[in-house]
Order: sequence, then C-alpha cells, then structure tokens
Amino acid sequence: MARKRIIAGNWKMNMTPSEAVKLVEELKPLVVNDDVDVVYCVPAIDIVPVVEAVKDTNVQVGAENFYIEDKGAYTGEISAPMLVDAGVKYVIIGHSERREYFKEDDAFLNKKVKKAIASGLTPILCCGETLEQREMGVTMDWIRLQIKSDLAGVAADDVKNLVIAYEPIWAIGTGKTATSDQAEEVCKGIRELIAEVYDTDTAEAVRIQYGGSMNAGNAKELLAKPNIDGGLIGGASLKAEFGQVVNA
Ligand code: G3H
Repeated sequence: MARKRIIAGNWKMNMTPSEAVKLVEELKPLVVNDDVDVVYCVPAIDIVPVVEAVKDTNVQVGAENFYIEDKGAYTGEISAPMLVDAGVKYVIIGHSERREYFKEDDAFLNKKVKKAIASGLTPILCCGETLEQREMGVTMDWIRLQIKSDLAGVAADDVKNLVIAYEPIWAIGTGKTATSDQAEEVCKGIRELIAEVYDTDTAEAVRIQYGGSMNAGNAKELLAKPNIDGGLIGGASLKAEFGQVVNA
C-alpha cells in the first residue's frame, strides 16, 4: 500500500501572528503538491490567522502542543476541542524539547496521544535518542521503549492513521543530519516494532517521518528511503526553502 508523504513544518517558538501570515503568503506558490500532505505546526497564537491564511490551499494546520483535559482551571493551557474548533488537524506530541524543558514523560505522552485521537486530531508522535545513547549503541532499544510506552493501549486502527517522527536529538537544530542510512535504519526499526506489537497492515499504513536538520540539500536522499515517508522540519520550514523540501 502506498503511503502518502507528509512534510510538516514545526515552527517552534518563532513567528508573531503578522510574521506568520506573511510567511504563509510567501510559501503559498512554493508548496503546491497534490502528492504530499503539507502541514504547518504553528505556535498557539498563530493558529487562527494561519488557518484563515491557508484556506483554499493544500496546506493543513497543526498545533505544537495541547493539554489533556477538555476544559477547566488549567491556566495558560489549550485543549484539544479548542484546537479542533479552530480548524487544527494535527498535533505534535513528545517532541524532545517538550520532553526535556517541560518534563513531559511517556506516561503523560500516552495520555496525550489517546486524547488527541479521541478528539479527532492526528498525532505526530516524536521519538529520538541522544548522542550519548547512539554512541552507547542503545538507539533502537530507547526508541522501542518510547514508542511502546507512548502507544500503550492505542488500537491498531488508530495507529494506522498516526504519524511517527524519528528525530535524533543530536541532529535537531545542529546542522548535523543523520545520514540517510542511519535515518532509514531507525525508521525501518520503528515499522518492524509496529508490526510486532500490532500487525503488518498497521505497520505498512503508519507514516514515519525523519526530522533533524532536514533541508533542501538533504531531503531528496532522505525521502528516497523506503521507510521514510516524510519530514518534520524546524529551521528550514521558516523560509522559502521549505517549498524545495515539499517538492523533493
Ligand atoms: O521538529 C523539528 C525538529 O526538531 C527539527 O528541527 O530542522 O531545526 O533541526 P531542525
């Protein structure tokens, strides 16, 4: 079964609302590609203007975060129903920056995955090893642990629709990309894990992205690998170069 490619930008904590709309306009002619799902995961304050700005285009909007309750006394948080009502389709869960700076652990991330799915959002579930773990040779053990914990109790039909992003922490924002072979090895390992825990159909359906200093120069080689179905792009998603990644 052919998996549709998915190229998502993770804008992180960049772009004021007016800058966001300007960037969307600049990218509009550059990201047209019917064979690819194009997603902008944007800061919460940019969601409403960006949803409006991408109306009638091929671009869908994702959130970078949300909280697991629907409503209530959680000052500063945003709920899944709020995102859905605003027109958001995807949400990033388990990015290494949230794991590290905001202490989000796998038990909490598992709740986020389930809540996102129950709310009609598609999770982009991130996993990845540190440089130390890679050098110790425990990369795949670590990734397996993360994915198993984060997906515990999630049904096969829901796993088929989600997106998993493999992002080696040492490659994020460093300009140091994993080689296409390194990236493929882990993405293949993730697919094998899904086949083991669920079944082959589920493993063949789930889309797996690579993320970590992906750009116009290396996207083509990474995306040529059989188990890499797309990219989660940080820095390069904030400039015209993103269009080249979408069309790589
Ligand atoms: O979510 C995106 C990743 O953290 C990659 O960021 O492309 O700036 O390395 P980067």
